[in-house]
Amino acid sequence: MKRDKNLVWRRVDAAGLDLKGLKVAVVGGTGGLGRAISHLLASRGASVTVVGQTFRDSGVPGIEFLQEDLSLMSEAQRVAAALPAETLDLVVLTTGIFAAPTRQETAEGLERDMAVSYLSRLVLVRGMAPRLGKHRSAAPMKPRVFIMGYPGTGQAGSLGDLNAEKSYSGMAVHMNTVAGNEMLVIDSAKRYANASFFGLNPGLIKTNIRSNFLGEGSLRFRFIEWMIGLLAPSAETYAETVTPLLVSPDLEGHSGAMFDKKGDAILPSAKLTDDHVRAFLADSEALVARANVRVSNH
Ligand SMILES: NC(=O)c1ccc[n+]([C@@H]2O[C@H](COP(=O)([O-])OP(=O)(O)OC[C@H]3O[C@@H](n4cnc5c(N)ncnc54)[C@H](OP(=O)(O)O)[C@@H]3O)[C@@H](O)[C@H]2O)c1
Repeated sequence: MKRDKNLVWRRVDAAGLDLKGLKVAVVGGTGGLGRAISHLLASRGASVTVVGQTFRDSGVPGIEFLQEDLSLMSEAQRVAAALPAETLDLVVLTTGIFAAPTRQETAEGLERDMAVSYLSRLVLVRGMAPRLGKHRSAAPMKPRVFIMGYPGTGQAGSLGDLNAEKSYSGMAVHMNTVAGNEMLVIDSAKRYANASFFGLNPGLIKTNIRSNFLGEGSLRFRFIEWMIGLLAPSAETYAETVTPLLVSPDLEGHSGAMFDKKGDAILPSAKLTDDHVRAFLADSEALVARANVRVSNH
């Protein structure tokens, strides 16, 4: 990863943020990093809607729940319509899994990691972006969308078999989701002037994300997550670093920027040329269409 030295933002303590009145949606806010960020945002006064499958925070002030299975494009489309994009200040996309050792397919015929970790986000962004900010009054910054993944690490993805039907490797599929998410930031920043789009790379953090790959509750999963827990910051520590970034005034005018685990700006992956991004997104849209969902190009 290469630092982007042209973008520096003024750090502030998360505990001092006053976020009363801030309207936020965290898709994937029911678990892991999205949940830690949601807790912190709500504790500072923001109104947060978390989208996921299992609500773990009933009774927490400031957090509301929308239940959806985002492995299905039809449900992603419903979430996009249900969320009040017109009045939201901040959207954070953290939904994700890791591809399983053997190929899994959703009821709509899509490879499951591609569906949950990338294509559902494409449907959400295209469904919400044109409406973002339409009914906000006198807001100091444009509405923001943060897309969490693994940007800036040189992944370009490989075209031709995005649904992994000809051959399957969990790692190759997951790298297509990584590349797709970075391209979604780059493309959306160019496509929509009414909102700002940013990429987040949290680095390795102990969560549930690898359970599908390593086996939920398996010895291997518990050992690897234990090691990551020893070596890496916790989800809560990451949330303390990144939450001030989400609302920093210094990001205004920098749509398309990406940030590493410390919140420092990083450069996008060099291989993501305009032609490649266009081709990858066209193939992604075609894959979503197989689930009978059409994503808007506007
Ligand atoms: N942790 C890391 O080491 C790491 C490293 C690099 C990148 N990332 C990225 O960080 C983001 C967050 O990951 P995490 O570590 O926080 O993972 P996590 O703990 O597994 O959380 C993932 C979230 O996605 C939701 N989710 C999963 N399947 C879903 C489905 N079918 N429908 C709706 N929601 C679903 C989960 O909700 P439910 O539990 O309610 O299903 C949960 O809220 C991901 O984009 C990941 O790629 C993480």
